[in-house]
Amino acid sequence: MIKGKNILLGVSGGIATYKVLDLCSRLKKEGANLKIIMTEGACKFVTPLSFETMGKCKVYSDMFEGHHDKVHHIELPKWADVFLIAPLTANTLAKMTYGIADNMLTASILACDKDIIVAPTMNTNMLNHPATQKNLKTIEDRGVYIINPLLGMLACNTRGDGRMQEPVNIVKYLDYYFTKKDLNGKKIIVTAGPTVEKIDYVRYITNKSSGKMGYNIAYEAFKRGADVKLISGPVSPFEVDCVDKVNVNTNKELKDEIDKEFDDADALIMAAAPTDYKVEKPSDVKIKKDGNNLNLELIENIDILKYFGDKKNQQTLIGFAAETDDLINNAQKKLEAKKVDYIIANDLKKKGAGFDVDTNIASILSHKSIEKLNMMTKRELANKILDLLV
Ligand SMILES: Cc1cc2nc3c(=O)[nH]c(=O)nc-3n(C[C@H](O)[C@H](O)[C@H](O)COP(=O)(O)O)c2cc1C
Repeated sequence: MIKGKNILLGVSGGIATYKVLDLCSRLKKEGANLKIIMTEGACKFVTPLSFETMGKCKVYSDMFEGHHDKVHHIELPKWADVFLIAPLTANTLAKMTYGIADNMLTASILACDKDIIVAPTMNTNMLNHPATQKNLKTIEDRGVYIINPLLGMLACNTRGDGRMQEPVNIVKYLDYYFTKKDLNGKKIIVTAGPTVEKIDYVRYITNKSSGKMGYNIAYEAFKRGADVKLISGPVSPFEVDCVDKVNVNTNKELKDEIDKEFDDADALIMAAAPTDYKVEKPSDVKIKKDGNNLNLELIENIDILKYFGDKKNQQTLIGFAAETDDLINNAQKKLEAKKVDYIIANDLKKKGAGFDVDTNIASILSHKSIEKLNMMTKRELANKILDLLV
């Protein structure tokens, strides 16, 4: 959680300095408190006025100005929860390594006893120079967190290593950094999205599940330190590169993938919406129109939740009930019949709940209680659900 955190942002002078304005704006939107230090070099690329405006805070750049109340390079790191330096130039990196304190930023770095996170960026030759590599290794060994630069197009008109991570990813990094790792050591299987069952070569049965709930659970569990296995139907509501993910189509594939991971798992969260019915005899070729109605015999599909309810030992099993009527009654029946520990019930007909929206209105049913929740984002609900495992 970035909200309410004090982030001291150090900006050194490279071409990526302008991108850090976007970073400031994103951090403010996440609710961070900012204070900014710029080097003289950074001020040549972007004015302090722009940073003041985007960061909605004071910008410090002159080492020898305005110390009548506080010695800023000492007080600023004391105020910070974390010191983020983006972009980090080769020059400031080298000064950091050797403990040089010749400007407001480098002096503050030396005075800092909080965690430091850096996002280096530079031309590929500068990055690959043995001096820079050695400096990076030295600060890493001292415990500085490095957001590695990327391969990409550089300002010097070449393609290579050295491009600064995009602001959106730096925000994700900080979000991960600040999240309490209360699920450390837990193995959690999360399923997401719909399954599909074949009718013929081109047609299939599926449902409207977007996968947003399951992906949010998987991503939040990763942030909280869990070893996450995400098993996803054919949807991808957002990228979760950091999570171990397997794609499936049918109920059988979904069940088999869960089975591979289940025995030593601590929890299975079944946010997927498997198709309840499948065609008894799907056709291997496209069925042609012939002027008559087409009758398909649908048979009940494998009940995955029940299968794992019967199989479970130490695992906490959490299922979902998405209903259009008699929500709590139906959810309670599911809780008993499938032998799960919790059911997350949501009424598909309520505005702001159910498939393909970013919010949900859910009730959490256990064998002892029912907790009715207000409308919240799927990310917030994901964390409520994960709290059940702590
Ligand atoms: C157009 C231009 C782009 C630059 N881009 C970078 C860069 O991306 N990374 C870097 O380490 N230095 C870059 N430099 C060099 C730094 O600005 C220079 O080393 C400066 O002394 C850095 O000072 P500072 O670390 O105090 O901000 C660039 C210089 C110019 C003129």
